[in-house]
Amino acid sequence: MLNLIEVGKPSFPTIDIVRRLSVVMLLVLSACSVGRPADDASGEEIYQQLCANCHGDDLNGGIGPPLGPGSNAANQADAFLEFTIMNGRGRMVSFSSSLNDEQLDRLVVYLREEQAG
Ligand code: HEC
Repeated sequence: MLNLIEVGKPSFPTIDIVRRLSVVMLLVLSACSVGRPADDASGEEIYQQLCANCHGDDLNGGIGPPLGPGSNAANQADAFLEFTIMNGRGRMVSFSSSLNDEQLDRLVVYLREEQAG
């Protein structure tokens, strides 16, 4: 006869595996979250933290279009850049929950400086 109480109890290896899995999950989650840049982060730091993955370290593009000198973005008004960053566009996510107004200003100033060459 099977002892039902024994069957329902998780064995020690099971508990160990669950504990290990939850540690791995936490690590994965923290690595995936983009996070907010520091309040006093420079425009360049914000760009490198949030944008470089898709637009390239040097604004030359990648998953997203180039943003540097001669790009379409360089010929658009500040309002276009701000709107795109805060609302997203196509496959680009919105950054409205990651950036405050001052950080957004610093980021756009940085893009303009880079675009000027
Ligand atoms: C997940 C990848 C990804 C990230 C991260 C990302 N972008 Fe984008 N971005 C894109 C893609 C893809 C497009 C093109 C969207 C479309 O037009 O369909 C785009 C478009 C743009 C455009 C419009 C360019 C044009 O010529 O139309 C600007 C400006 C821009 N991104 C700026 C930024 C800035 C600044 C950041 C950081 C705050 C950023 N992006 C982060 C993927 C990304």
